[in-house]
Amino acid sequence: MCGIIGYTGQRPAGQIILDGLRRLEYRGYDSAGIALFDANHELYVARAAGKIDNLISKIEGSLPPAVSGIGHTRWATHGAATDLNAHPHLDPAGRVAVVHNGIIENFEALRRPFVERGLAFSSDTDTEVLAFLIADEIQAGVDLARAVQNVVAQTQGAAAVVAICCDEPGRIVAARVGNAGGIVIGHGDGERFVASDLAALLPHTRRVTFLEPGEVADIRPDEVTYYDTAGHVLAKPVETQPWDPVAAVKGRYKHFMLKEIHEQPDTALDSVRGRYLTAPHRVEVEDLPFTAEQVRDFNRVVLIGMGTSMHAAMVGRHYLERYARLPAEVDNAAEFRYRSPVLDPRTLVISVAQSGETIDTLAAMDEARRAGCPQITICNTPGAQTTRIADATVYMRAGPEIAVASTKTLVGSMIALHALGLHLGRLRGALDAETSRRQVEGALHLPAAIGETLLLEPRVAELAARYAAYEDFLFLGRGLSYPMALEGALKLKEVSYIHAEGYAAGEMKHGPIALIDERMPTVAIALRDEVRDKMRSNIEQVKARRGRVIAIVSADDVSLDGIADDVLRLPEVEPDLSPVLTAVVMQLLSYEIAVERGADVDQPRNLAKTVTVE
Ligand code: M6R
Repeated sequence: MCGIIGYTGQRPAGQIILDGLRRLEYRGYDSAGIALFDANHELYVARAAGKIDNLISKIEGSLPPAVSGIGHTRWATHGAATDLNAHPHLDPAGRVAVVHNGIIENFEALRRPFVERGLAFSSDTDTEVLAFLIADEIQAGVDLARAVQNVVAQTQGAAAVVAICCDEPGRIVAARVGNAGGIVIGHGDGERFVASDLAALLPHTRRVTFLEPGEVADIRPDEVTYYDTAGHVLAKPVETQPWDPVAAVKGRYKHFMLKEIHEQPDTALDSVRGRYLTAPHRVEVEDLPFTAEQVRDFNRVVLIGMGTSMHAAMVGRHYLERYARLPAEVDNAAEFRYRSPVLDPRTLVISVAQSGETIDTLAAMDEARRAGCPQITICNTPGAQTTRIADATVYMRAGPEIAVASTKTLVGSMIALHALGLHLGRLRGALDAETSRRQVEGALHLPAAIGETLLLEPRVAELAARYAAYEDFLFLGRGLSYPMALEGALKLKEVSYIHAEGYAAGEMKHGPIALIDERMPTVAIALRDEVRDKMRSNIEQVKARRGRVIAIVSADDVSLDGIADDVLRLPEVEPDLSPVLTAVVMQLLSYEIAVERGADVDQPRNLAKTVTVE
């Protein structure tokens, strides 16, 4: 939530920052703002509520020549989405500018002394007081880096803070407090960047350094000095990131979401590459630090995540139980941490988070770390915070995902969990050769099967045109398709603002069936598996109550033709991997309905890509 970008070097800072803000807009789009040093070392500040285009219209060619500055795109927590609440925020003399991601819980207490001194705040945000406090420190002769460190030490909550001061144009100080809000420094030739995430830096550099909680970076064009919480200088490595900058642009697609849906054959290919091996058929997951003996000693696995990542974890539970014969449970990370979970060093904790920065997931991982649990994280973002907490990372290998709705990262995480289940199953001696063969072959066929599923797009678009006017939907599934029913409902709500409920189909007659009438269509996932007949009964129950049904069925299954109103046939796939294809067709359905309704597909209202507040 909230995107941050800063630049210091010799090139036109204004344009670099505005371009960076465009790449970060998916993190929040309630307002945007920029602060630059002009030729006289005075601060030029422009801020506008709404999307970045509003800021650009407001600036209208007035961007001063500048070689350093900072920018921000906001997801509102304190104060409405107005010009005044937009970042950057300044001190009363207008000499210090601050941008911030996260929440300052004690901001009211921090504001009080200034109000008592008769100073007025111009915004309702928790951020503005940071500029006041930093300016006070500088007034007292404290150096900017130390001033930022002293100020963040007074804050409660978790945040990423970036500050500049007129006294030293060309210098930017960034601090990371707690788990909210990553900070990554980009290293160029005689220039440096700072951003809330990698995507904004990719056009400029892949040489980066990530800040850990508690660390401060003092950034100048030719060097960066890092400090730990105690103010000691730290040596931090420069890492080279593998992401392709071209992957973060929309290209010929109308929306990032559509582009990312279409990238899924490649995601699957990258996810199976080097992991699913033949002759003999086996699965090897890279870089797991656990010995076979340790793996055999695990007595339970707890999977955690939020939103789509939790749905991936629910699919993963089946894989861990089936292949590794480990008792597995799934929890919403935000609930898990407040439940006094029973954990011990034999409980393997697997977290799923595409961003690797979701605060609820990080907090749950911290809880697991305190209990001494071995941890594996499934993540898409190189160097993200989850990857630092966990003992091992299995990457989703999806490349940058820009649309707020998760699509290809879901596919990447389900394949990663499938591979992990098979890998652990082999180490635990729980996997037979035939299962291994079938699953490896099934996974290797996935890229082609996803490609075939995408051919359903025109048919889905035709359905979307007919169903887009409904205001309520029900999604039903059983077994491996149950998490996909939840996912289908989430995706539809998220991108088209239609009310949708996802249910385990067996639960329908315990309440939700009361909702069904001709105004509430049901999307029923009825693939050919051990629960198909039960799904068929559920569909009949919906039909008996005049509900319309879109059935998602297996390749050559005609048994629901004439019963369901509409049928979407998925290509042949190994049944254990069917959620991957179901996910793709659900994504297409939500996307096409959202487009029909004229919704803002890539940036749905009220949402942000990375959720760094509780
Ligand atoms: O970065 P994470 O995977 O931890 O994000 C978790 C959720 O915020 C995310 O999956 C959200 O539900 C998606 N926007 C849904 O499409």
